Amino acid sequence: MSQGPTKPIYVLNGPNLNLLGVREPHIYGKTTLDDISRSCADLAKAMGFTVVFRQSNHEGQLVDWIQEARTEASAVVINPAAYGHTSVALLDALKTLSIPIVECHLSHLATREDFRHQTFVSKAATGIIAGFGAKGYELAVQAAVHLIAAKA
Ligand code: DQA
Repeated sequence: MSQGPTKPIYVLNGPNLNLLGVREPHIYGKTTLDDISRSCADLAKAMGFTVVFRQSNHEGQLVDWIQEARTEASAVVINPAAYGHTSVALLDALKTLSIPIVECHLSHLATREDFRHQTFVSKAATGIIAGFGAKGYELAVQAAVHLIAAKA
């Protein structure tokens, strides 16, 4: 159980994002997930928040973390990666949350293959940030803090 008034922002990452930096760098950039984790933590700290930053290649693990966020997080930033396009389970889990949800994608989905144009996660997300590369995570954390403050 989190102690104190300010619960962390959960930043959850889906399949293959552990390979950021080496995976299709012409699309996803050269920044690693560790680099992104550090920049999210630093930015959140400067705004008085902490971050729980996680990645899994397994859909059920992501569902478990979303369920955990129901009681333990003040907001969720999620890059569901490919599961965003396929997973009703992630959508259903996200729909149980009453905290802000910011969907984040490194690439600009609308300019890519048709099957990437829609995500199930968008139906539960408060908003979506896509196309800004690794920087998008910082924008997503900022958006989460803004939404938490607006809700308070
Ligand atoms: C992604 C976009 C998805 O379509 C893809 O499957 C990913 C990464 C992005 O961050 O741009 O794995 O979520």
